[in-house]
Amino acid sequence: MLTMPLQTNSSLNDTVIKLEHVGKTFGEMVVFEDICLHVNRGEIVSILGSSGSGKSTLFNIIAGLIPIDHGKVAVRGTVGYMQQKDLLLPWKTVASNVGLPLKLKGFAKEDIEKKIKEYLPLVGLEGNEDKYPFQLSGGMRQRASFLRTLMTAEEIFLLDEAFGSLDSITRGQMQKWLLDMKNKFDNTVVLITHDIDEAIYLSDRIYIISKIPAEIKKEIKVDFHNEDKNKRLLSPRTLELKQEILKYF
Ligand SMILES: Nc1ncnc2c1ncn2[C@@H]1O[C@H](COP(=O)(O)OP(=O)(O)OP(=O)(O)O)[C@@H](O)[C@H]1O
Ligand SMILES: [Mg+2]
Repeated sequence: MLTMPLQTNSSLNDTVIKLEHVGKTFGEMVVFEDICLHVNRGEIVSILGSSGSGKSTLFNIIAGLIPIDHGKVAVRGTVGYMQQKDLLLPWKTVASNVGLPLKLKGFAKEDIEKKIKEYLPLVGLEGNEDKYPFQLSGGMRQRASFLRTLMTAEEIFLLDEAFGSLDSITRGQMQKWLLDMKNKFDNTVVLITHDIDEAIYLSDRIYIISKIPAEIKKEIKVDFHNEDKNKRLLSPRTLELKQEILKYF
């Protein structure tokens, strides 16, 4: 868990993440020069962009893992970060990996075990609690990692390609589960995805970013069937938005 310092900037109000004119280079490579974006409390926002456009770098900046060259970053609230690489600890079982954030928070062993029993079936990992990461498929590792991130019930979740290596059926189930969790706990979620359908289905807003040096090409408000996003899946509006988004790639 990463706990960010609470910013006293009153202009943040309901904005929980704000990047102003952020620049980042790696040596000679300019990843971005002037990124501005914000995320409001309770929103699901997707960052959509092609490979190598600096999306994970953006998350590492928001999570406070890497410094910026210039600009301002303000984050308000506790952050749970699911990195693109699953980062499960190879020497720990599925149950220990998933329960780790709760252990670090000082939960009692019995409570952790109870929670793990309750949650593993939700991601289809029941019966695998005693396996080690090397014994799991890529998709299973991803689901374990997703569950571990959500176990922390933080205020803000950064999910980097959380559903990337899942088959479409499991992917659909996980997306639904994410929406259920969001409705239940009213967290704020920022997703990185390559998948336009996923972005339209889940998001309240989408930022499309260009190749490096990356800039925000377009901000799209997704404002149909907000009350029941499942209805978006079959709506003709999804197709219209998809066509609009594809213009930027
Ligand atoms: N720590 C680092 N040191 C040097 N270069 C880096 C570092 N991290 C990322 N880069 C480079 O910065 C660029 C953006 O990388 P990043 O991982 O942010 O892209 P991405 O949009 O997440 O790509 P993908 O969709 O493939 O995950 C790439 O060219 C990458 O090689
Ligand atoms: Mg990435």
